Amino acid sequence: SLDAAREALERLSRVIPDFPSPGISFRDLTPVFADGPALRAVTDALLEPFAGRYDVIAGVEARGFVLAASAAYASGRGVVMIRKPGKLPRAVLSEDYDLEYGSATLQVHDDELPKGTRVLLIDDVLATGGTLAASCSLIERAGWTVAGIGVVLELSALAGANKLPGRDIQSLQVV
Ligand code: PRP
Repeated sequence: SLDAAREALERLSRVIPDFPSPGISFRDLTPVFADGPALRAVTDALLEPFAGRYDVIAGVEARGFVLAASAAYASGRGVVMIRKPGKLPRAVLSEDYDLEYGSATLQVHDDELPKGTRVLLIDDVLATGGTLAASCSLIERAGWTVAGIGVVLELSALAGANKLPGRDIQSLQVV
């Protein structure tokens, strides 16, 4: 349930000051991933709002892969991997996006799924939204549809949802 997931997040997630750089408070979900019942509760809560509306789970390298694989197993679906550049061996689509300083790229195999496949996009954190916006672009350029976006934690001060207009975003915890 959503309550069980939120309780686990409150109890287990950690705030690490000055990581990865001074002034940044890093929200560390690794203790949630490391706890079996917590990972299960979070996975179930991520899937619940989208029941019956997706064919496959997409995960974003690297922390998103943990949740995507867990969600895929729980729902009997597969995983499509959205990866950092240079990792996928076949023909890829690439999407560049801006970071606070510099830019980044994500890639997906362009033929991984049939056209029209409904993809549920899962990640751990929605911060500036650049990662998930680029992931949505990749999914749609490949001819698939974005069924929704499930994230564990949304950092509201960074207003990432503004980069995802019209998307069905479900966040387990908003801070
Ligand atoms: C983190 C996080 C999200 C993304 C959110 O990944 O897992 O994918 O940043 O940030 P945004 O909303 O500002 O785009 P990171 O790039 O640190 O990679 P990792 O999962 O490999 O640690």
